Amino acid sequence: MVNSCRKLNCNIYIGFYCSAIILPLICICSQFSQPTIDQFTKDPGAFPVATNGELFPWRELRLPTVVIPLHYDLFIHPNLTSLDFVASEKIEVLVRDATQFIILHSNGLEIMNATLQSEEDLRYRKPGKKLTVLSYPAHQQIALMVPEKLRADLRYSVAIDFQAKLADGFEGFYKSTYRTLGGETRTIAVTDFEPTEARMAFPCFDEPLFKANFSIKIRRESRHIALSNMPKIKTVEVDGGLLEDHFGTTVKMSTYLVAYIVCDFNSVSGTASSGVKVSVYASPDKWSQTHYALEASLKLLDFYEKYFDIQYPLPKLDLVAIPDFASGAMENWGLITYRETSLLFDPKTSSTSDKLWITEVIAHELAHQWFGNLVTMEWWNDIWLNEGFATYMELISVNATYPELQFDDDFMNTCFEVIKKDSLNSSHPISNQAETPTQIQEMFDAVSYKKGACILNMLKDFLSEGKFKTGIIHYLKKFSYRNAKNDDLWNSLSNSCLESDFTSGGFCYSDSKTTSNTLTFLGENVEIKEMMTTWTLQKGIPLVVVKQEGRSLRLRQERFLNGVFREDPEWGPLQERYLWHIPLTYATSSSNEIHKHFLKSKTDTLDLPETTSWVKFNVDSNGYYIVHYEGHGWDQLITLLNQNHTLLRPKDRIGLIHDAFQLVSAGRLTLDKALDLTRYLQRETSIPALLKGLEYLELFYHTIDRRNISDITENLKHYILQYFKPVIDMQSWSDEGSVWDRMLRSVLLKLACYLNHTPCIQKATELFSQWVESSGKLNISTDVLKIVYSVGAQTTAGWNYLLEQYGLSLSAAEKNKILYALSTSKHQEKLMKLIELGMEGKVIKTQDLAALLHAIARNPKGQQLAWNFVKENWTHLLKKFDLGSFALRMIIFGTTSHFSSKDELQEVKLFFESLKDQGVDLEIFQIVLETISKNIRWLEKNLSTLRNWLLISI
Ligand code: BES
Ligand code: ZN
Repeated sequence: MVNSCRKLNCNIYIGFYCSAIILPLICICSQFSQPTIDQFTKDPGAFPVATNGELFPWRELRLPTVVIPLHYDLFIHPNLTSLDFVASEKIEVLVRDATQFIILHSNGLEIMNATLQSEEDLRYRKPGKKLTVLSYPAHQQIALMVPEKLRADLRYSVAIDFQAKLADGFEGFYKSTYRTLGGETRTIAVTDFEPTEARMAFPCFDEPLFKANFSIKIRRESRHIALSNMPKIKTVEVDGGLLEDHFGTTVKMSTYLVAYIVCDFNSVSGTASSGVKVSVYASPDKWSQTHYALEASLKLLDFYEKYFDIQYPLPKLDLVAIPDFASGAMENWGLITYRETSLLFDPKTSSTSDKLWITEVIAHELAHQWFGNLVTMEWWNDIWLNEGFATYMELISVNATYPELQFDDDFMNTCFEVIKKDSLNSSHPISNQAETPTQIQEMFDAVSYKKGACILNMLKDFLSEGKFKTGIIHYLKKFSYRNAKNDDLWNSLSNSCLESDFTSGGFCYSDSKTTSNTLTFLGENVEIKEMMTTWTLQKGIPLVVVKQEGRSLRLRQERFLNGVFREDPEWGPLQERYLWHIPLTYATSSSNEIHKHFLKSKTDTLDLPETTSWVKFNVDSNGYYIVHYEGHGWDQLITLLNQNHTLLRPKDRIGLIHDAFQLVSAGRLTLDKALDLTRYLQRETSIPALLKGLEYLELFYHTIDRRNISDITENLKHYILQYFKPVIDMQSWSDEGSVWDRMLRSVLLKLACYLNHTPCIQKATELFSQWVESSGKLNISTDVLKIVYSVGAQTTAGWNYLLEQYGLSLSAAEKNKILYALSTSKHQEKLMKLIELGMEGKVIKTQDLAALLHAIARNPKGQQLAWNFVKENWTHLLKKFDLGSFALRMIIFGTTSHFSSKDELQEVKLFFESLKDQGVDLEIFQIVLETISKNIRWLEKNLSTLRNWLLISI
């Protein structure tokens, strides 16, 4: 670091900081060429025009790095009656090169006044010099033009007064409302800034690299409380009976992590082992639902502090349930905000999967306090360094703190979910260019979160948990309060060998010729960076094709493509230049050992010590690759499953089911073979494996049912109910058993009732009537609650009653279940009514509209309705949700991705094209079109096979 400082020709003043934490900020290397003030005067035509008609002196989306913020003093006074706020700030900046202007982000703020003081001015208490403010809304930037050039290496203080309305949506400083038990509607004000919305709340250097300290003051009425990242130091009384809370100065952090809330919530608190005060806040009537979150966050905070060997650096951590929230949760440092369903556990109405979700979200956001907050990616192209790690850490921390949740058995599904997207050509590399706010928002997707987590898990398995952990601790310690990029991570992981590894001759440096980043693995040199860039800079997932020839295994790697077959003309070109460094693992019939092999060429051969009757690759499904067994490979595995499935580990059985059906979609395995593989499921003792098999059968059922192919629908229904009858009949309508027992109960009974299985419908109807008779007081087992409501929603009286209860319920978990049930009605006018309520945003909140449209689109009676609605109301939807937002992407994907005919594809294509003509182009459009094409292809190829297989199977 000192070197890079020298290279940048840092002078003495900066040299002073070189020993401090601030160093990296000062030594920021600009990644792009910046127009200089001279350029500005020489070539004014190259610059944009500000709102007042003058030239705006900056043309890039990214801010210049000549002026950097050190400290923000922020004062905010929201008015929850007039729904606006007035505010002021003083930003202490350091000028690195002489300049005539300061460029800041600002979006939708009315700037009333801006002044500048030099250090000297401050020292002699001279008034600030007034600055001219230019605004360039297209880039959400303002330019503060200074009368005299600012001098290099000096600090200045910029003071800005500004005001705005509290935002209507879910970003910036926005209003949220909730209903009390007594029926009163109350308003709170809350922030949500990631990725680029801090600039909606205060003018700032709104990029993750510009870390600074923040001192926040909030003025409020006495009936409210104010919360922010740091604890309150004092409250002072000001004019008009108002109170002003002063919060402690934060550690150095990025703007997107700043947060403040004005509300009237209550809390429960506890103290972590390290003394950190943890509190969970919710609206007053929901206080009783906060206890599980407090228990979980205390446990998880203790876990992370020990695991990372780094203390959580703030004195307190608040977790707040916000009634209107865009995403699931947001990791603001010290003040984590959550959607109510992600934090509040109501013992009466929250199911096991609700509990698992809450635990996961808390674990995720707490992990961010290190991965993301303490160490932040340099730029949004590497958001996976935040999100992939937080998702990976969920696995590590929940396994350790809540082993009874058996979360480990669910992690594979994280990988399976992203494989669906990553095996389309429309996928993108984990590290991907992103410049505009929309592109940046689009980076928050399954690839960053899930593929990120899965490749980290694969690397952990390859390096061993101990070395991986040592490496990530190095990374966190080295880059604390700073920013990092991919290479920094790989370097930290490469240098993670323990002292003993040098002498053991094991999996670490053993050869003096190797570079410090090289590990030796089974006698081969492995460059971690070279290996990992094949996973982060290259999109897609590899397919490993295995062919057994006597004692030899012939290996080949390809790019796995869903919906494109080898015989298609585009297959060849889509394969070009793809190559992964794959850490393979395998087990064979002859030993229990886990064998390893590092595949970094297109083809390779493995010689086994003896012939084996079967071989299974990707042990425990820890690797991010799909395996195809050519020749008799699949037959051998199917025989094995049928004869004694327990010879394979449960996760290997799940992996086989997954891979087999993926290979069907890629045209590499026939559907009847994959279905034959599931025949052993009648004897399957592992619930996750059973659920995986069921998931595919259910998926096929939905696909066929939507297309109204009644003979297959009937036969498949018959097959499922017959085949799984023993296990369906075994289910009780209770909450007993382990987490997986309970998950199985929910899935099986839901499916049975959906397929109109008489005993299921009878029991659910009976429970629903009792519940209505008890005026909603009867306690129904939480695992079957959604099923009971869904069956109840099939009559008009039941549906109406549920809608009424929806408005009254104080449990977000219950409301979600009711809303789902309402969306399963067969009556289109009822479905339309729900959409109207969702658009109105009163009874059904706007935050739930995306999930509602998705649920309605899954209902065969609602699919066309939901899609037509989206097409016809696109402009209305755009007013509610940002273009790149998760909600809008969910609405688009949720209402189209199930289509499976050429006509539907054409219709969707036309709609997307009309949007493109209006200048709207999103990555999700391509994903949808490819998904529909894949569905069409699947049906063309497999429909008759499915029909015939069912005929011989029932
Ligand atoms: N940092 C994100 C919140 C976020 C999401 C900000 C999208 C900007 C755009 C947060 O840590 C997160 O990942 N939340 C998840 C929940 C998590 C358990 C997967 C979410 O909101 O879905
Ligand atoms: Zn996250």
